Amino acid sequence: MNQHLDPKKEAHIEQLREQYHELARLAGELAHEIKNPLSVIRMNMDLLAEDFAGAESGRDRRAMQTIEIVTNQCARLESLLNDFLRFSRVQHLNMTPGNLNRQLENVLDFFAPRAAEAGVEVIRYLDPDLPSVLFDPNAIQAALVNLVKNSLEAMPEGGQLTVRTRVTRKGVAADLIDSGLGMDENTAMHMFDPFFSTKESGSGLGLPTARKVIEAHGGRIDVQSAINHGTKFTLEFPTPTRIAGA
Ligand SMILES: Nc1ncnc2c1ncn2[C@@H]1O[C@H](COP(=O)(O)OP(=O)(O)OP(=O)(O)O)[C@@H](O)[C@H]1O
Ligand SMILES: [Mg+2]
Repeated sequence: MNQHLDPKKEAHIEQLREQYHELARLAGELAHEIKNPLSVIRMNMDLLAEDFAGAESGRDRRAMQTIEIVTNQCARLESLLNDFLRFSRVQHLNMTPGNLNRQLENVLDFFAPRAAEAGVEVIRYLDPDLPSVLFDPNAIQAALVNLVKNSLEAMPEGGQLTVRTRVTRKGVAADLIDSGLGMDENTAMHMFDPFFSTKESGSGLGLPTARKVIEAHGGRIDVQSAINHGTKFTLEFPTPTRIAGA
């Protein structure tokens, strides 16, 4: 049996993997560099807040309000940087044979309480005969977490999340179909741009992270969305154990 993909495709995947590692490394370094001065600012704000605690004059109260604003914005930046560090932490993909169903089960089990609370019914159609693929379980898990989280966030009034796996001509695929808000044209165009978000506290790193991870595995991610109807994400991973030309 031929264990390899076609050499051209493999070289392309390797190139994507290298780009991904480089980007992840730079992002991680930058986030660290920003985090240090930011924590100094926050510490000094805490000291100022202590000085102004119990402020009585109008001027001091206004100063206290300003301190609070700066402190809140620092906290927001810190949380953004932590998202970024999480995103860049997948330094090297540790490829092992594994089953996509298992990964999905883990992520869906993890989100089950949150889904129940939000009135979202989760329907699983996982093909029991799904063949194994080569992937890094942690990286795939991070990608799936981002997708499921997005689906739940798109259904604030409840709805249905259908998760299906199937065998395709090239490998295995998973569909995540939500009955949520869907996307307008602008969102559909920019959803994979780093930092693009329509949410008040979104970092806009969920989908770019998911796409990088999936493409670094030689896979692909497709989206279909209809406003007020819902969104379908399809992920496909190649099975490298296919006999070339068969
Ligand atoms: N299932 C979905 N339904 C509707 N819109 C979606 C869905 N998934 C993503 N989007 C849109 O794509 C945007 C980008 O998603 P992404 O996951 O990258 O960032 P985010 O969810 O806004 O922030 P973060 O994931 O960092 O919390 C979202 O703000 C949202 O507008
Ligand atoms: Mg998200």
